[in-house]
Order: sequence, then structure tokens, then C-alpha cells
Amino acid sequence: MMLNTFSLYLFGGTGDLANRKLLPAMFRQEILSSFDESSEIVGVGSKELSNEDYIAMVKRSLAEYFHGFDNHEEPWQTFSKRLRYLKLDINSEEDWNVFEKLPEDRSVILYLATPPFLYQTISNNLKSYNLVNKNCRVVVEKPLGTNLETSNEINDSLANGFEEHQIYRIDHYLGKEAVQNLLALRFGNTIFERSWSNAAIDHIQITVAEDLGVEGRGNYYDDTGALRDMVQNHLLQILCLITMEPPVSINNESVRDEKLKVLKSLQSFNKDNISIDSVRAQYTDGISKGKAACAYKDEDGVDPIKNTETFVALKVAINNWRWAGVPFYIRTGKRMESKSSEIVVRYKNVPHNIFSDQKSLAPNQLVLRIHPDEGIDLKLNTKKPDVTGFDLQELPLDLNLHDYNEIGHQDCYERLLLDVIKGNTALFVRRDEVEASWSWIDNIINLWKSEDVPMEDYISGSWGPSNSDLLLKREYRSWKNGNKK
Ligand code: BG6
Repeated sequence: MMLNTFSLYLFGGTGDLANRKLLPAMFRQEILSSFDESSEIVGVGSKELSNEDYIAMVKRSLAEYFHGFDNHEEPWQTFSKRLRYLKLDINSEEDWNVFEKLPEDRSVILYLATPPFLYQTISNNLKSYNLVNKNCRVVVEKPLGTNLETSNEINDSLANGFEEHQIYRIDHYLGKEAVQNLLALRFGNTIFERSWSNAAIDHIQITVAEDLGVEGRGNYYDDTGALRDMVQNHLLQILCLITMEPPVSINNESVRDEKLKVLKSLQSFNKDNISIDSVRAQYTDGISKGKAACAYKDEDGVDPIKNTETFVALKVAINNWRWAGVPFYIRTGKRMESKSSEIVVRYKNVPHNIFSDQKSLAPNQLVLRIHPDEGIDLKLNTKKPDVTGFDLQELPLDLNLHDYNEIGHQDCYERLLLDVIKGNTALFVRRDEVEASWSWIDNIINLWKSEDVPMEDYISGSWGPSNSDLLLKREYRSWKNGNKK
């Protein structure tokens, strides 16, 4: 499908995000012939580069990050004609004074692929140098601040130059096919939605486990920690999609309206339950993927005094009719046994067991796998083939979503970039959502401090600290660890 004409300005056009994610995503769409002749991509950066230098740089980075780049000479010829470069030192008045007038005859995407501390300066300057017009859309990534106050400062600057509908806040998890599939599963099928409540569901687990450590991002991570880095955004967004009420439509504000209602219904932690229902921990040395891995406190850029968490587990309650009484156990951590993200929906036991010989009947379990092996797995009880008795066995209905992805590797940024170009805001986070999630998170951080919630240890390559297991065990439940079926 051909998109409307656009100019995409990539601030940070020579940086890591542009090279690894954004330019490859745009190139893949070039191969699919999605852009009209006059759409363009403008790299904006502080280096002195000619257009030819920039095009050569993009070619080198596509050769590195786009699998099979050499087989696509013709699309590259077209793509390279769309590329040009503008030099801009964000702090130079002189550079801003000569920055080009942004086009008014097309969509203008201002993608701030820069370190977040530059968002305010760029946004303020775009406004004060009179560059913003009604066709502009600005795109920003997390982290949007480190708490409600600092995120409000960034959002105020953005609001100074842009209307809310022109602001696209990316949470890259919302660009993942498997995450969008939550909407398809829930609202494209009657069988799930009818039993999607406290009437049938015992509890829900969300795990986003990573096997990597902080990988050279020690400086950033040490001031952030797992709660701000992952829970405030990705895990809460997933929680919203799983629990929200049916939106009126997928194409307007109603998805965001429904997510906001969930965020507002999250029960706040208090000083009586913070030490019981939350666990924070940090990895020690151990073996990760067969190799020795150092402790978090020995990673580059980490200050051991800061004692930052690399793992969080929380028992969360949602105060509304649908979910009253259903616990949500959410956890995320670095250096865990394997990279695995999934949602586990455990249904209640059948109300009465008619199979008297059967000691216990396994409750149904629906697993929504986000990574790896994106798919859906529903465990059902069936009769064991046997003429003498009536024994039941648990068998999976297993749907592998990978099988349906016929166009090769597609990154979540591709979907999100296309949505910005089309002006579709549904998969972006609205300001009120950011505010609601930060105030819920800020309360946890304050309570961790005031109530001296201990920082526990877990061994690199494990499934987290023992108290994380205890969080469920004390309620006769257990985590599903890893993508083992
Ligand atoms: C980012 C976090 O938002 O998400 C990283 O800052 C984390 O710390 C990453 O590693 C995980 O994303 P994904 O898509 O690899 O699960």
C-alpha cells in the first residue's frame, strides 16, 4: 500500500537507533514499494557531513544491520535518492537560524532519535525558531523522565510546541506483533472474552525475562533500574492490553482511553504490603548461557553504593468489577536463565470434579508467548485413549504465530514508523497514560525507600531471588519459568 507523501527528519540520524532500527525498517518498506517518489528521509546530526557522506554511511549500516542487503540493489538505488543530510548542533543558535523551513504540503515526522536529555532543547527550539507547522508529528522514546515530575517537564516542553495529537510516544513493545495479537485474540474471538474475568480466571502472570546483563549501558541503567526501565512502560502497557475493557474501535482514541482506565484502577501499594507484595533484587555473579558472568555491581559504569535493582516482581491488584480478587504477578529481570516473555492466564479449577478416580484436574492454562516462538498455547484436559477407564490428560492446542509471518524479519519499529506516517496514534502512549503510570511507580519507589525494602540477591542465570518464588508459593501458586511447553 502506497503511503502519503512524507518527510522524515531523523534527529540523531547518524546514531545507534537510526542505524540499527529506523533506517533498516524504512529500507524494508522501500523493498515493498510503500513510498511515493517525493517522500524523503533527512538525517539530522551534529557531524559535518555531505549528502554523499551520509548516503555512504547509511549504505554501510544497512550492509551491517539489514540481512541480505546485497540482494536489493534496485531498492537501494531508489532509497539512496530519498536520503539527504542536515547539520545541526542542537545548542548552536547559528545552526537553528539556518535550519530549513519544514514542508507544509506533506506529513513531517520529527523523530528525536537522540539521547532523551536533548528532547526539551530540540522541542523548545523547534517552537521558538518557528519551525513547527500543523503537519508536524514529533516522535520520542522512553525514558520520558525518571519520575512524574521530570516526565512532566519533558511533556510540558513537547506541549509547548505541539498539540497532543501531534506527539507520538513510543513504547516499542506496542510495535511487537505478539503484543498486538493480544487485541486480536481478545476482541476477535468470542470464546476468550466471555471468560476473561474473575468469574473464570484464577490469576495472571506476566514475565519479561532477559538473559543479558546491562551490556555497556551501566551508566544509564544504574540511575534507572528494572522498575523504571521495564515496568513503568512495557509491563504496564501489556497489563493494560490484557485487562482493559473492549474499546469502541482500534483506530481512534478509545484504545488509549481504555488503557488509561486500567492504569487508574491499579491498587497503590502501601506501607503494610510493600515488603510482602514487592520484591527487588540484583544479580550476583554466576553462569549465564554457559559462560561466567560478573555481578551487577562489577559491571562497567555501575556504582555499587546506588544499589540499583535489576529484577522486580510485584503482586498487583486491579480495582474494578472485572478483575476484583484476581492477582496479577508481574516480573522482569536481567541476567535470568533465558530470554523469555510471556503471559500466563491460569483459569480456575472446574467447580465440581465428576471424574472421581482423577485425583486432581489440572486447571486450564492459556500461554501467550511474546518471545521466543511467538504463539498461543492453550492447555486442555482430554480423555486418555483407553477402553478400561476414564483417565484425563492435559494436552496443548498450540498455535505458532511465526508460521504466518511470510515476509521475513519485521521489527517493531517498522510498524510504529508506518503508523506515525499514517497518523495513527493508537499504538502510542498518551500523556495521561504516562502520568498515571509514573504516579503508580513513584509510590513504589518512595515506599521501597521509606520502608527499607531489602535488595535481594539472585544468581546470574537463575529465575530470580527466592522471595519472588515465595510471592506465589505462599498462595499455593508457582511461576511458569521459561518457554518450556
Ligand atoms: C528497553 C530497555 O526498553 O527494552 C532495555 O531499556 C531492555 O533494558 C529492552 O533490554 C528489552 O526489549 P526487547 O524488545 O529486547 O524485549
